[in-house]
Amino acid sequence: MEGKTIIITIDGWSSTGKSTLARQLARDLKYKYIDSGAMYRAITLYFLRNHVDWTQTGAVQKALQQIKLEFVANHKSGLSEMWLNGENVEYVIRDLVIAEKVSEVAAVKAVREFAVAQQRNMGKDKGIVMDGRDIGTTVFPDAELKIFMTADESVRVQRRYKELFQKNPNVTLEEVRHNLEMRDYIDSHRKVSPLRKAEDAVVLDNSHLTMKQQLEIAQQWTRERLG
Ligand code: DC
Repeated sequence: MEGKTIIITIDGWSSTGKSTLARQLARDLKYKYIDSGAMYRAITLYFLRNHVDWTQTGAVQKALQQIKLEFVANHKSGLSEMWLNGENVEYVIRDLVIAEKVSEVAAVKAVREFAVAQQRNMGKDKGIVMDGRDIGTTVFPDAELKIFMTADESVRVQRRYKELFQKNPNVTLEEVRHNLEMRDYIDSHRKVSPLRKAEDAVVLDNSHLTMKQQLEIAQQWTRERLG
């Protein structure tokens, strides 16, 4: 796929496979891939470790000044990983402890402004695939291709459970379902840039699609946008 350079945004519900698809498209196109959720997770980790009360505006402002987020390439896997203040936090931010709080932290206005400014900067030269919740609506409203991903809740719960079970066999299906429902609710009901489909986004429901099938659909959309 050659020609012009574009921005691709992938938003949608939790555990719909946004990052898998985003990574595949970025690899195809030799674009940058940015997992915006990792940024909110890393900020949550910092707040929890440093006992920052995110309901207090002053405390949040002060804490954000101490946070440096970077995506660093892992040369072995070829994937970019989230670093927080010089520490690789890619694995610890995937924990359920973080998942339980991240939606609350991500609803704080100052946190969103902090993250969105950095995300826009990463996309200033285009050639980027970014996934999240508000990428097509707020971060890059003029993106050339906007994908909105969805899937049946039961399918999403199973997928997330499998993923978490590998790391922690004590995790239960109920815990995972509860966390998913809670995050979807908070993410779509918050005041600042809630999760919603951009008007010009194309919907990808992958409840009954294989990864290969969903990739082919997204590649077709990409070809159309590249002209
Ligand atoms: O994609 P994820 O599950 O890693 O995202 C973690 C949380 O971060 C998610 O529950 C909502 C929040 N988030 C957000 O509010 N805006 C984004 N652009 C990305 C994630």
